[in-house]
Amino acid sequence: MLWWSSFACSLFVCLALSAGASQAPFSSDIRHGAPDVLNSKTDAFIQRIMHDWQTPAGLAVAVVRLIDGQWHTETKGYGNATLNGTAVDENTLFAIGSNSKLFDIVATGLLIHNETLQPRIDWDTKIGSLIAEWGLMDPLASAETTIVDLMSHRTGMPRHDHMYGYGDSVLDVISRLRYIRPSAPFRTAYQYSNNAYTTLSYLPSLLIDSHPSFTEYVRENVLAPLGMTATTYYSVVAEASGHLADGFSREGVNETDDLFGMGTPRVFSPYWSPAGDDGNVVSGLGGVISSANDIALWLQALLLEGKNPSTNATVIPAEVIKKVSTGVTVKAPKAAYPELSPIVYGGGQSRGTYRGHEYIEHDGAVPGFQTSITRLPWDNIGVAVLTNDDYYGFDIHELVKYYLIDEALGLEKIDWNTRLMEKVRKAYHDRRVQPRPSSPAPPSVDFAALEGTYRSLAYGTYELCYLGPDARASAGGSDCNDMRKDAHLRLPGWVDADRPTFLMQWDKVWTSHLKLDHFDGNVFNVTILQSTPTNAASQPYWVDQSEATASRSGYAQFVVDDGAVSFGLTGGFWGAGAGVDSPQGEGIRGKAEIWFDRL
Ligand SMILES: *[C@@H]1O[C@H](CO)[C@@H](O)[C@H](O)[C@H]1NC(C)=O
Ligand SMILES: *[C@@H]1O[C@H](CO)[C@@H](O)[C@H](O)[C@H]1NC(C)=O
Ligand SMILES: *[C@@H]1O[C@H](CO)[C@@H](O)[C@H](O)[C@H]1NC(C)=O
Ligand SMILES: *[C@@H]1O[C@H](CO)[C@@H](O)[C@H](O)[C@H]1NC(C)=O
Ligand SMILES: *[C@@H]1O[C@H](CO)[C@@H](O)[C@H](O)[C@H]1NC(C)=O
Ligand SMILES: *[C@@H]1O[C@H](CO)[C@@H](O)[C@H](O)[C@H]1NC(C)=O
Repeated sequence: MLWWSSFACSLFVCLALSAGASQAPFSSDIRHGAPDVLNSKTDAFIQRIMHDWQTPAGLAVAVVRLIDGQWHTETKGYGNATLNGTAVDENTLFAIGSNSKLFDIVATGLLIHNETLQPRIDWDTKIGSLIAEWGLMDPLASAETTIVDLMSHRTGMPRHDHMYGYGDSVLDVISRLRYIRPSAPFRTAYQYSNNAYTTLSYLPSLLIDSHPSFTEYVRENVLAPLGMTATTYYSVVAEASGHLADGFSREGVNETDDLFGMGTPRVFSPYWSPAGDDGNVVSGLGGVISSANDIALWLQALLLEGKNPSTNATVIPAEVIKKVSTGVTVKAPKAAYPELSPIVYGGGQSRGTYRGHEYIEHDGAVPGFQTSITRLPWDNIGVAVLTNDDYYGFDIHELVKYYLIDEALGLEKIDWNTRLMEKVRKAYHDRRVQPRPSSPAPPSVDFAALEGTYRSLAYGTYELCYLGPDARASAGGSDCNDMRKDAHLRLPGWVDADRPTFLMQWDKVWTSHLKLDHFDGNVFNVTILQSTPTNAASQPYWVDQSEATASRSGYAQFVVDDGAVSFGLTGGFWGAGAGVDSPQGEGIRGKAEIWFDRL
């Protein structure tokens, strides 16, 4: 303890005095062998966190520090990489989710700094001048959106994350953006948009004469020159390496019994870049798969503003790193905890302070994986936490990140574990659902008459299949007959025999089914589900409920008008930014985030 306080003091004071210098002077005991951040106390802390949050999975961490011109790099794995108990180590591969966005915007920055590119582009180049298929519903945003608007999430588009599937090319997604309803006027709100990054990922193949795929462009110009040889966009390459972690979730947790229960550990299929695809709809927004060892190199290169840490060669121009790390939009207008600050967003990077130390970071989440990659530019410290726990991985990476930063800075620890467990408990207790009326009104036509083929220009065309006993065998065609046969197999435990239910095969990147359960009149509760094979004969599929419907009460409302049937989805499906209102238009259609017409 004593040792800690003197370390804290010397490090903290030295840094405070030298703020602005590229390298801080350090006391001599630190210069000759910086004490490990990943020491036995840290190991014990991480073990305790895995136990408290009952993770079936694990995590890998990387800590890098530049001390007197020398890199100190520590990497380590904890817990389970795979369902059969392979341990996580520093080479275990994790999907890093939205931490991939920085690679996307860096690729865009390389194009901007490419002096031989014809025509030249810059950060303020309008997307519509580059991509003929580009268009947004809001004419102003459509005409004026620039690279900076896309990277900083201020076009007015909400997420609309359920509009793209693996059957789509990047250009298909771009071509459909004109059909998605905006949720804020142009440049008035920060609203996270994966589709913005999908659009940016189109630029290398469009603008460079040899038309490299996006992933090949990143590999050749960023990953290879930095020596990040284990990093890939391809799940097949990651699997073949033998190092790929399973992405875990938990099925059947009894939350009243134990909110932090393990339930039955389940794993997602490694789906995010299927074999053969050379840069697909997920690559730009979240396709990178990497290890703690490679992310340690990435953190060093970022702290050096684009230089290869072992050769000093410039791989990414410093101006690119500076531009994307500088705030454009306000992500969080006020601090969530006293040690934090408001947060600004540049491109694939947030920026704020923690205990007076400025940080630049991003987090990432794809089914089965949650990650954070953070650097403290004034302190020359980088910390990454990669988890394969879908359920509580976010809280785990935040807790472990703060612990490692506190340890690296020599600060007294803050009890983030208690704070974040409390936050989870509060969210659970605050969840409110209105019970279904005891004698609900039927819809304005028979349930069976709502079955049929529905289309949304943005989302696609689907069969809506009725599961009730009075379903007409012929309606909805053979797809619905298959759906009725398979529903209990594909969605075990999710079909409630007491409520009239409709299912859509909603095969998108993050989902497999949309489920409508009758509530009252023409209103149905909506659940978005992902059904995944288990490879076990006793229960061939397990089901994960999408975040988009787990904690909000989204609903579908039908409109039957002179034989024409439509429905709108409302209640968080479009993924608008925090504080952005739900749609305020006229009637049911005007209040819907997503609209389907029966064909
Ligand atoms: C790893 O998996 C085993 C078997 O499911 C489980 O008992 C254990 O709690 C898991 N977690 C860790 C950190 O080992
Ligand atoms: C676990 O399964 C993987 C394939 O998923 C296999 O490569 C590995 O050898 C297995 N490990 C153990 C400890 O059974
Ligand atoms: C720069 O542009 C030229 C011309 O299209 C192309 O040959 C080269 O590969 C590009 N390099 C990078 C890093 O973008
Ligand atoms: C969940 O746990 C509570 C309390 O232990 C118990 O009363 C309830 O029956 C459990 N629910 C299910 C679905 O097992
Ligand atoms: C890289 O630059 C740093 C700081 O200028 C210097 O200390 C180091 O020796 C250089 N390394 C190489 C390989 O040139
Ligand atoms: C079902 O939808 C109604 C109407 O929107 C809502 O009040 C209720 O809380 C929802 N129930 C669930 C379980 O989401």
